[in-house]
Amino acid sequence: MNANLLFFMLLCFLQTCGSYFSTSSQKNSKFYSDPVEAVKDIHNGATILVGGFGLCGIPENLINSLLKTGVKGITAVSNNAGVDNFGLGLLLQTKQIKRMISSYVGENAEFERQYLSGELEVELTPQGTLAERIRAGGAGVPAFFTATGYGTLIQEGGSPIKYNKDGSIAIASEEREVREFGGRHYVMEKAITGDFALIKAWKADKAGNIVFRKTARNFNQPMCKAAKTTIVEVEEVVEVGTFAAEDIHIPSIYVHRVVQGASYEKRIEVQNDTLKTFSHFYHCSEIYFVVIFMCPKRTVRKSQEEKPKPKKESDIVRERIIRRAALEFEDGMYANLGIGIPMLASNFIKPDITVHLQSENGILGLGPYPTEDAVDADLINAGKETVTVLPGAAYFSSDDSFAMIRGGHINLTMLGAMQVSKHGDLANWMIPGKMVKGMGGAMDLVASAGTKVVVTMEHSAKGGKHKILDKCSLPLTGKQCVDRIITEKAVFDVDKTKGLTLVEIWEGLTPEDIKGCTGTDFEVSPNLKPMQQI
Ligand SMILES: *[C@@H]1O[C@H](CO)[C@@H](O)[C@H](O)[C@H]1NC(C)=O
Ligand SMILES: *[C@@H]1O[C@H](CO)[C@@H](O)[C@H](O)[C@H]1NC(C)=O
Repeated sequence: MNANLLFFMLLCFLQTCGSYFSTSSQKNSKFYSDPVEAVKDIHNGATILVGGFGLCGIPENLINSLLKTGVKGITAVSNNAGVDNFGLGLLLQTKQIKRMISSYVGENAEFERQYLSGELEVELTPQGTLAERIRAGGAGVPAFFTATGYGTLIQEGGSPIKYNKDGSIAIASEEREVREFGGRHYVMEKAITGDFALIKAWKADKAGNIVFRKTARNFNQPMCKAAKTTIVEVEEVVEVGTFAAEDIHIPSIYVHRVVQGASYEKRIEVQNDTLKTFSHFYHCSEIYFVVIFMCPKRTVRKSQEEKPKPKKESDIVRERIIRRAALEFEDGMYANLGIGIPMLASNFIKPDITVHLQSENGILGLGPYPTEDAVDADLINAGKETVTVLPGAAYFSSDDSFAMIRGGHINLTMLGAMQVSKHGDLANWMIPGKMVKGMGGAMDLVASAGTKVVVTMEHSAKGGKHKILDKCSLPLTGKQCVDRIITEKAVFDVDKTKGLTLVEIWEGLTPEDIKGCTGTDFEVSPNLKPMQQI
């Protein structure tokens, strides 16, 4: 090889390097200073993926910009719809949204009102299915099979998407194809893609790579990948190398536009649910002392000096269920706990065992409520309460979280119910025409093979109506999914084919008493025990 040829080869090599570097510095992502500029080409009728869980990790500046562009007829794919006057709730008020694809209506009164009065189309989708449909969309997978929703309105079709003014159903959801794999039934779900994704991240580097903060990752991560144009608002734009290449959550290939938000309100959602009635329940647990109290913005720990008020009858009932539910925890378990009684049971975990709590918005290693100075809007649980994490905890996205759940890696799910049937059917997500909260992650949690499902609830509804029945009358959350029922009067084990067995009973009550307040028959265990309490 002569020197000239060598020199020529070296030149070619350098040129290749040069052109490689210059392409990479041209970048895929465009940086904007004005969020309105970044969204002004979003057209009427567009499908928009909007990141966030509750109010955590929502693209607040981009949403506000849509108020200015006035785009209409939007299909918004978003786990929730903000609250009345923040987040997507603002675009509901201005009637810019035609259809929501969400898992949870929750406490957004305007969302519920528009849906029930036929002004808004809502495709309620189980949270894990929603996350996976978006993930599949970004990954080029047109459809997939999941056990979530089998035997419910989601699979059977007929779930209301739009109501008429008179309350009848104008648009109903379609039936899903079912297939059997390994003796279990699975539902076919189709991928979701968007024309645009509106994303909130923590930081972008100047190459357009992004990272998220704490539980603000949620749906933002899969949504980045599933839209033709992904628009990301960030708190900070930093130099390349500020965060290590191995710490990047979303590589720049998925990021088309970046805007640095002028300011972040990061509002914390007002808590208003079952916890409210429980605001004066106090317990000094062996691990930490927690008082849940209503405060317009946050859920925090309070000092131990607080004097307990006298307990009401309803509190005594709840405490009894909680003290029984806490006995379900075993050392080394991974558990997902519904808000209310199940979450409160975690205050009674024995100090000599370790239970890892999973929160489906993206935490493993949930800790107690924060002290006032540790409240962080980017760190909430699935009940949208501010929380802390324990040393060794991990954060992840919603699609990862539900892969963990669907994949059977969680040992125990505990949740409330409106009705349970003797074969373990569960109903807890809607009362047709009256109340729609949405299923959130419940359908996914109870559909997971290998996860024990424990229902905690009061034995009867107000007015003595039975909640434990031959057959549920309300739309199901899951079919033959409940393993155990804990009430203030009894504990039943559920066999998916044989039915209920009474295994524990509150002292002073007889199996006859339980028969009188239960809407179905049951066996009595030969080893019937008094109801255990921690
Ligand atoms: C708060 O809860 C109460 C009682 O459950 C309910 O009547 C009220 O409508 C709720 N408020 C909001 C804003 O959701
Ligand atoms: C939890 O589930 C895993 C399987 O996913 C199993 O190996 C482990 O023994 C279970 N732990 C407990 C405490 O049940």
